[in-house]
Amino acid sequence: MQFFIDTAIIDEVREINAWGVLSGVTTNPSLVASSGRDFREVIQEIAQLVGGAISAEVTALDAEGMIKEGREVAGWSDHVVVKLPLTPAGLQACKTLSSEGIKTNITLCFSVPQALLAARAGATYISPFAGRVDDIGWDGIELVRQIKEAYVLGDIQTKVLAASIRHPQHVVQAALAGADVATVPYKVFTQMIKHPLTQAGLDAFLKDWAKRAGASPETPSSEAGTNPQQGGVTAQGEPVQGGQKQ
Ligand code: E4P
Repeated sequence: MQFFIDTAIIDEVREINAWGVLSGVTTNPSLVASSGRDFREVIQEIAQLVGGAISAEVTALDAEGMIKEGREVAGWSDHVVVKLPLTPAGLQACKTLSSEGIKTNITLCFSVPQALLAARAGATYISPFAGRVDDIGWDGIELVRQIKEAYVLGDIQTKVLAASIRHPQHVVQAALAGADVATVPYKVFTQMIKHPLTQAGLDAFLKDWAKRAGASPETPSSEAGTNPQQGGVTAQGEPVQGGQKQ
């Protein structure tokens, strides 16, 4: 499963891209608006930084307007994927833009029938919104799994892009459901990388290294883990609090 980051904040893109894990970026009108930046500038900057697939969403509601906007944003960079809403006009625009060789991401997908229509209209990506489906008491990851299953059975090439990801378990579940891509917010990336045993193990390695013959008296330590203020775990996984084993 590939990772995209779901943001229009350049610093967030830069930081996670430096990890070497990104294959693209998704934006939407809300994310671009909250970045406070010019739409074209921010998309071009992201495209230069990351490459890969950069989703830029149209705001027109009619097919003609979407096609016009889609052609325009696709012209900003070879990396742009035109994001279109799952409406009749969005499907119509998708068909036209796809036939011109422009990549598309059909967004705001909440059902398998919608995903089947998007695929038939030539979508490069379909974006089921897992978190928002969970929000209304349904199972967002089950939606991702069913879309993938229907696509595999129908030999459909449209990629399933799990969106509206809210926590690391969503990422795990999306991968197990067969998603081709997960678009992950910055905060969730920072949660994914953390594990108390990694920090505690690193602290223990550094302490042992500092004790070797001829080492300087200063003991380097990693950022968290066995920090007495925060509690944490020992390198063997035993909990500690206030610097003491519990
Ligand atoms: C997808 O491309 C959308 O930008 C995004 O995943 C929506 O997520 P939200 O439900 O957290 O706004």
